[in-house]
Amino acid sequence: MKKILAAVVFVALMAGCASVKVADFDSIQEYTLKNKAGMEVKLTNYGATITSIKTADRDGKMDDIALGYNDVSDYMNAVDKPYFGSVVGRYGNRIAKGRFTVDGEEYELATNNGENHLHGGVIGFDKVVWDAEIVGKNAVCFTYLAKDGEEGYPGNLSIAVTYTLTEENEIQIDYLATTDKATPVNLTNHTYFNLKGEGEGDILGHELMINAKGFTPVDKGLIPTGEIAPVAGTPFDFTVAKPIGRDIGQKDQQLEYGLGYDHNFVLDKEGKEGQMTRAATAYEPTTGRFMEVFTKEPGIQFYCGNFLDGRLKGKSGKTYVYRGGFCLETQHYPDSPNQPQFPSTILRPGADYETRTTYRFSVR
Ligand code: BGC
Repeated sequence: MKKILAAVVFVALMAGCASVKVADFDSIQEYTLKNKAGMEVKLTNYGATITSIKTADRDGKMDDIALGYNDVSDYMNAVDKPYFGSVVGRYGNRIAKGRFTVDGEEYELATNNGENHLHGGVIGFDKVVWDAEIVGKNAVCFTYLAKDGEEGYPGNLSIAVTYTLTEENEIQIDYLATTDKATPVNLTNHTYFNLKGEGEGDILGHELMINAKGFTPVDKGLIPTGEIAPVAGTPFDFTVAKPIGRDIGQKDQQLEYGLGYDHNFVLDKEGKEGQMTRAATAYEPTTGRFMEVFTKEPGIQFYCGNFLDGRLKGKSGKTYVYRGGFCLETQHYPDSPNQPQFPSTILRPGADYETRTTYRFSVR
């Protein structure tokens, strides 16, 4: 297996786009995007993954705030499959018992999370090699054709995910997909953030705001019950920013099921459906780093690294402790193919799946 960073070999810059650097190791490449402010993002076409995000703290010190590895084989073999930084799909999150029906036809998917299907199955989009193309200044487009029947899903699904690093210190992620048979699609990015720096302890002191008055409670297997419950008066109320750790230890059945926060929040959308909404913010008081998440999606999975337990060591050799990173996965709600009252995730031939999520970084 090729190392992503085995050597510093920078090749083939697109004419006039000197800010995208490519390190090439056979079919696996790593792309380095850097803007004028010095923010740097690394991507690889293995899983269309974000491998590194370097941003300044309030003193201008750059740190890598995304969990990940140096070596592709670590992405492939990591214990408990953390999905560091990758695109997950064809259906990000869970589908109950791996079963759903579209247009009267029942489909059966792999059950890779207890009795349920998670993040696209055994070989989801995080574990395949995507094609890549530099498509502009600091922009790389990854494409993948998921075949009809792959992981049990219907239809050839053609996907393009474009990452752009803007001069406003944003990572903009544009998702496009088309299909030749009706199929569920729910794509997201699974970056684990630690705004102190990857490997710098837990994330419980980060002050999180989620723009959601409701969330989708789950059963023991983390499948939504179908209800949209108010967050008011519960540990799930992040409508006003509070430290992630403040209420996480409360006695609460939902926190017990999630082993902490591992839940989909129903975003309070601004404007029309499909418009960008400020979904969440996270502030880390010791470094001053501030992150904002904007999305067209109706939901966001807040997962606070409850399955990290100190067994994984990251790219700089530091241990990823319990709750050493958090994910804000913009998405449609889990198990939507079996929950007709949730916004539909079925993509039909002739229609475009088109969505965008932006992570913006600054200091306070
Ligand atoms: C899920 C978690 C899961 C994690 C890593 C998250 O998106 O909600 O339950 O453990 O991904 O697989």
